[in-house]
Amino acid sequence: MRISDAIAKMIDSPHNSVHDIEHLLKVHSLARCIGQLEGLDEQTLYTLELAAVVHDISCPYLREKYHSAPGELQEKESCGYLREFFSGTDVAEEIVQRVCLLVSRHHTYHDIEGQDLQILLEADFLVVAAEKHLPPSTVENQGHKLFKTSAGLRFLNNLILQLNLNTQE
Ligand SMILES: [Fe+2]
Repeated sequence: MRISDAIAKMIDSPHNSVHDIEHLLKVHSLARCIGQLEGLDEQTLYTLELAAVVHDISCPYLREKYHSAPGELQEKESCGYLREFFSGTDVAEEIVQRVCLLVSRHHTYHDIEGQDLQILLEADFLVVAAEKHLPPSTVENQGHKLFKTSAGLRFLNNLILQLNLNTQE
C-alpha cells in the first residue's frame, strides 16, 4: 500500500470530516519531514507515515458513539478500526502491529519507545498546538518536556515564536 493510497482511503471514508482530513494531512506532512530530517531508515519512515495518516482513525466513530473522542477510548478502540482498514491490503503484519501500537500510544507522553513514536507525538503536538491556538507558555512548557528530536525542537521553537508574535498583536 502506498502512502497516497492510505491517504485516499481516509479521504474516501464518509466518516471523516474536512477537519479530520486536514488534520491528518498536516500531521503526516510534518511527521514525514521530521522523519526524513532525522534520517529514519526506509521501513521506519514508511511505518511512521502510515501511522500519521491513520493516527486519529477512531475519532469519528467515537464522536458518533460517545459524542467525544478522549485519548483513553482512542487507545482502546483504534486497533479494531486499523485492522479493518488494512485488511485486504499488502501491508505486512509486522507493520500493522507497529502502526497499532503507535496509534494507541500517541496520547501517552511517557515511556516513549522508538523514534517513530517520538516523531508521531511531536508532529501531532505541533499541529494541535497551532490548530487550537494554545497559549505560547503552555506550548513551551509541555513541548520542552516532550520533544527530543532536533528537527522537532526546531519546529517547536519556531511555533512558540509565532504564537508569541500573535499574542502581542
Ligand atoms: Fe491528531
